[in-house]
Amino acid sequence: MDNQAVNGKKIAAGKAIEYVRNGMTLGLGTGSTAYWAIQGIGEMVKQGLTVRAVATSVQSESLARELNIPLIPFSEVDRLDITIDGADEVDEKLNLIKGGGGALLREKIVAAATRFYIIIVDESKLVRHLGKFPLPVEVVPFAWELTQRRLAELDCIPHMRMAGDKRYLTDNHNYIFDCQFGQILDPAALHRKVSDITGVMEDGFFINMADIVVAGSPAGETRIINKPS
Ligand code: A5P
Repeated sequence: MDNQAVNGKKIAAGKAIEYVRNGMTLGLGTGSTAYWAIQGIGEMVKQGLTVRAVATSVQSESLARELNIPLIPFSEVDRLDITIDGADEVDEKLNLIKGGGGALLREKIVAAATRFYIIIVDESKLVRHLGKFPLPVEVVPFAWELTQRRLAELDCIPHMRMAGDKRYLTDNHNYIFDCQFGQILDPAALHRKVSDITGVMEDGFFINMADIVVAGSPAGETRIINKPS
């Protein structure tokens, strides 16, 4: 990853954690941008901030533990005040593609329980239409070949995600197909079609979920984009 993108990610994360207040229950995202937000929250905890958090992946959970951010089980959660997470693409209506890091299912469960969902990206992730980034689709391993065929019938090329010479496994022990659709003009409609396939656990479309997007530039500026009303 180039240094400019890293800078944009770090700057966006720094801005987003300004929304965190004492007493909040937080959702911690996953990926190289959320990493900076978790680091920042860890620093705030060190300075005396009192929060509770849940994580969207095993990786983010370990990082939070290292930083002494108090973690609670989902049995103790009804609603989260804020979740801060990254994205792979953001369109003009703040619809997202997520899941490049493989955590889409847990991320969507956490997002759906969140009152104020903040997405942090470096500005290169802002696009007019989604689809350049292949859509991650998490599927159950059982009969995955059939699920792959049904996905291909939607006019995409579903590639099994690999980790070396083995199939990549999510934290939920499922597979991921990265589906190249090309430019997607109606993500909500495509989301419904993908979700309708039996065997699909979740796809990486996050439609109408983000409340704000904080985009960071390599020069160190941030732009806050609100969900269109
Ligand atoms: C994790 O599964 C993803 O949804 C990430 O939020 C997304 O891939 C963005 O990752 P980076 O912040 O590493 O670009």
